[in-house]
Amino acid sequence: MAKVNKVRRIVAFSGAAALTAVVVNFVISIILDQSKKWKKRDLPGCCVRVNLSASEIQKLTDSIIYKSNEIYDLVASIPLEEAIYANVIAPLVDLEEYQYPLIQCCLFHKMVATSDDVRKASADAERRLDSHFQMCRKREDVYCVIKAFVRRGEWLGPEAKRYVQYLVKDYERNGANLSSSKRKEMESLKFQMEKLSLEYIQNLAKNDNFLSFSEKDLTGMPPQFIKSLDKTESGDLKVFLKSYQVLPILEYCKVGATRKFVATSYGQKCGQENLIILEKLVQLRHKFATLLGYSNYADFVAEPRMAKTSTKVFEFLEEVSNKLSHLAARELSFLRKLKVEEEGDTSFGMEDIPYYIRRAKELLFNLDLSEVREYFPLNLVLSGIFKIFQDLFGLSFVEVKDVEVWHETVLLYSIRDSSSNELLGYVYVDLLSRDGKFGHTCVLSLQNGCSSTKVARKIPVTLLIFNCTKQIDDAPVMMRFTDVIGLFHEFCHVVHHICNRASFSRFSGLGLEADFVEIPAQLLENWCYESISIEMMSGHYEDITKSVTMEMCKLLKKKRDLFSGLKLKQEIFLCLIDQIIHSSDSIDILELWNHLHPKVMVGLPLLDGTKPGSYLPRAAIGYDATCYSQLWSEVYAADIFASKFQDDLLNQHSGLQFRNKILAPGGSRDPYDILSEYLGREPSTRGFIDIKTSNSLPSER
Ligand SMILES: *[C@@H]1O[C@H](CO)[C@@H](O)[C@H](O)[C@H]1NC(C)=O
Ligand SMILES: *[C@@H]1O[C@H](CO)[C@@H](O)[C@H](O)[C@H]1NC(C)=O
Ligand SMILES: *[C@@H]1O[C@H](CO)[C@@H](O)[C@H](O)[C@H]1NC(C)=O
Ligand SMILES: [Zn+2]
Repeated sequence: MAKVNKVRRIVAFSGAAALTAVVVNFVISIILDQSKKWKKRDLPGCCVRVNLSASEIQKLTDSIIYKSNEIYDLVASIPLEEAIYANVIAPLVDLEEYQYPLIQCCLFHKMVATSDDVRKASADAERRLDSHFQMCRKREDVYCVIKAFVRRGEWLGPEAKRYVQYLVKDYERNGANLSSSKRKEMESLKFQMEKLSLEYIQNLAKNDNFLSFSEKDLTGMPPQFIKSLDKTESGDLKVFLKSYQVLPILEYCKVGATRKFVATSYGQKCGQENLIILEKLVQLRHKFATLLGYSNYADFVAEPRMAKTSTKVFEFLEEVSNKLSHLAARELSFLRKLKVEEEGDTSFGMEDIPYYIRRAKELLFNLDLSEVREYFPLNLVLSGIFKIFQDLFGLSFVEVKDVEVWHETVLLYSIRDSSSNELLGYVYVDLLSRDGKFGHTCVLSLQNGCSSTKVARKIPVTLLIFNCTKQIDDAPVMMRFTDVIGLFHEFCHVVHHICNRASFSRFSGLGLEADFVEIPAQLLENWCYESISIEMMSGHYEDITKSVTMEMCKLLKKKRDLFSGLKLKQEIFLCLIDQIIHSSDSIDILELWNHLHPKVMVGLPLLDGTKPGSYLPRAAIGYDATCYSQLWSEVYAADIFASKFQDDLLNQHSGLQFRNKILAPGGSRDPYDILSEYLGREPSTRGFIDIKTSNSLPSER
């Protein structure tokens, strides 16, 4: 019952992966002599090695670093007046193109390898590559040559031009054009910020305060929850201030006073101590950003994203918030009435929201999710997903047998364009959980498609990692509905990667603008709520001809949208806080919180006595000023859905347009332009608001 917040993400491997890379006569080719290593079938166009030993990973890492230093030194040695594309940019592009799959080979073993040694070697490689490439991005000598090239104004095609702009930015965002004293200051700020973030996190982790309750105080809690609690010496039940114990109580406990006490204590969790750290962090981040020439930290963060400026983010958040106010207020009055009916109590606070949302859902419809699960055996879901992508995007997935993989349950598929039969790419699919394997869900690129150099075009190779668990030995693996959505979502990232036709490796991977890259996957999630597509993915495990009923589909969708107003308002509130604190030089966080809360939360004040800034891991560890990203992509995905697909989900004409206009350009063009061109107008929040408000509460019960 405790909500496991599933981490869905694309692992971009911070510095190393997205970065750099080599040219001719590779040291590496000796180690990677494929003809000797491939025991099984060779894959055309794919230089991914899936079965490296620990020592091979180490050797490969050495040679990547060696080669990259060689190329950087070479570029740095070009006399400024001789800097042209062929001797400055081309070697860097070639390096990146060649090294990218090698780097990924070193890194992905960390997540899936079956041996401890290999995983450890891979983690070591990640550390070494990361710090190496960070160092590369600070090389002043290389930066000077690149700038000399830019000053000469050589003509470039649009993608190459964009590449150079990004390259220059990479250096400048790392302080390459600062004076040495300012650069020192920047390093010192970075160091202090890391130290404070760590302190903040440590305070969170070491907090082991608990509350004690009698069983009566916890009326309403499921028996297995009560059983899971420790006891004090006097026999009371201990509730620790950890989300996995607090959230279930807020959702299930019938005793209003208990909910309030738990919510208040949780809201004071790391108290004054962490608030002070956060306020200091905000000041340091501001200094850091202004040192680099930005007006504030939020602008520094927004620059390489689709939003580009924090003003744009503000406008977006305010617009969505305002448009949802009416809906949220109606939902709130519904919940208030429910509380009066149940507890005879007319007061209503933030602490009541989770409990009454759950109660309202229970009263409005009853959906047994364990029954739903019986309709989603893994194999059927997988083939349904392939069928949908085939119908919609004209892609065909074919399993490739007899190839080397790292575990016998890993599958490999080739993906072709159905009409031309052109091979577009490969995807490794590692679905089942096992010891030592990465426990979350993610998609990563092992090789990017690219064709910017003389070498033959490389095709994209993707890896999808999932964490399905086999429940019973000889029954098929059954998926929870949330996992069905999750898998579908991840496959959209795979398709995005495979359909990407950008010519530069930098733009053809998954490391696109962070508030843009989720849009296609968010869009496609909508297919999981429509009966025409759910039918293709479902069938009862005892009789697969029986798929999920129309009625069930309706309920699942309703469950998604019910109380969206209040839920989104809470999210928007945090996003606003995140933007505001990172747009100022110094701020009283508690006062801001108190002031803003009732404004956004349709009149509900902040729970008395709480210091919510004290337990926000996101704000401290580097997701700073990026909280809006999720909502941003959801909103624009809904815009596309409402205007292009809603009435005809499997329309291949629309699907191909999407594939060609949104997926194919990848990161090679400005995402805002891509989207506007595809829509024939600027992206808008309307589709999202319409979807959320049309699927709302019955007006009276
Ligand atoms: C560094 O370059 C950026 C962008 O070209 C510019 O805005 C900034 O003023 C430069 N800083 C210095 C110290 O030259
Ligand atoms: C991977 O390579 C190791 C040794 O190089 C070998 O023992 C193992 O069987 C290989 N695994 C697979 C799945 O081919
Ligand atoms: C992945 O699956 C394993 C085995 O079922 C489970 O113990 C683990 O909690 C799962 N990971 C996540 C993040 O849910
Ligand atoms: Zn995603």
